[in-house]
Amino acid sequence: MRRLSFLGKMKMNRPTILTGDRTTGPLHIGHYAGSLANRLRYQDSHELFLLLADTQALTDNAHAPEKVRRSVIEVALDYLAVGIDPNRTTICLQSHLPPLAELSMLYLNFVTVARLERNPTIKDEIRARGFGRDIPAGFLCYPAAQAADITAFKATIVPVGEDQTALIEQTNEIVRRINATAGKTILPEAQAVIPQFGRLPGVDGKAKMSKSSGNAIALSASPEAISAAVKAMFTDLTHLRIEDPGQVEGNVVFACLDAFDEDPATLEEMKAQYQRGGLGDGRIKRRLDDILQALIGPIRTRRAELAEDHAYVLDVIRSGTEKARSRTEVTKREVVEGLGLFVL
Ligand code: TRP
Repeated sequence: MRRLSFLGKMKMNRPTILTGDRTTGPLHIGHYAGSLANRLRYQDSHELFLLLADTQALTDNAHAPEKVRRSVIEVALDYLAVGIDPNRTTICLQSHLPPLAELSMLYLNFVTVARLERNPTIKDEIRARGFGRDIPAGFLCYPAAQAADITAFKATIVPVGEDQTALIEQTNEIVRRINATAGKTILPEAQAVIPQFGRLPGVDGKAKMSKSSGNAIALSASPEAISAAVKAMFTDLTHLRIEDPGQVEGNVVFACLDAFDEDPATLEEMKAQYQRGGLGDGRIKRRLDDILQALIGPIRTRRAELAEDHAYVLDVIRSGTEKARSRTEVTKREVVEGLGLFVL
């Protein structure tokens, strides 16, 4: 029998992480600050699965399946361009993983409609989307589907934005009900990991940078688009002259510098000077522009190269999805058997 090397053993014991993105458009610097940078770090220490969540994207985009389809490649390109390495990380496509859909259907019987309606994430999102009484059933039920995503991989760590913690809580409720019904621990509970830099505000000063609000800087943005966005960035309406004291709080330029400036000492000095008065918006914007050009430049180049090699990108998604399929198929069978259902 072949002995496992130390590294091999370490590899086997790495905790499993599942996270992912709805495929609704190319990713932006808010995704980079909030999640992509952390994922790069997880690639060696954890077994990392990234889900291209196209089925979930459809829950509030049924009117735009074409956008959801196109965005699968866009998001995959973004992953690869920032340095997600398909040899270490599994990139997989939600709609092509039948065990996720099968587990979703099972889990829907272990959650009530009232509980789904009470989920704070869902409540907020329903309000934000203005669904009124016309809530798509798929949307209301997506917490059960996300529970299926997470548990199918037996992920114990789920890095997500703060707005998603209620979904992880609901996942764990379902896990406990399944395990209690089975009379044994089939599924592990998952822990949400919230990024240090929470979320980046939009360039317009709105709480959240998002493509749909048109206030984002894409990871594929051209140099001119980056400069234009930085120039238009919301700073402080009362900071009219350079000598006026300015506000750092709520200032989008400083929020971005907090996330991307690698020289915190200089940044702190600049903040102090800005607050005292004497530091103009032009200076802080120029600094941010330089930093973002340096961050996005190589990503844009790499992304353009990859976009030329469609077959490679397809192959990455296809092989990742295949690997994820066998993995999630095992979990589905364990759940079906554990619940004591008929197995052919
Ligand atoms: N809900 C996540 C988002 O809005 C995407 C997602 C789908 C996800 N399934 C997941 C995240 C499972 C973490 C784990 O982007």
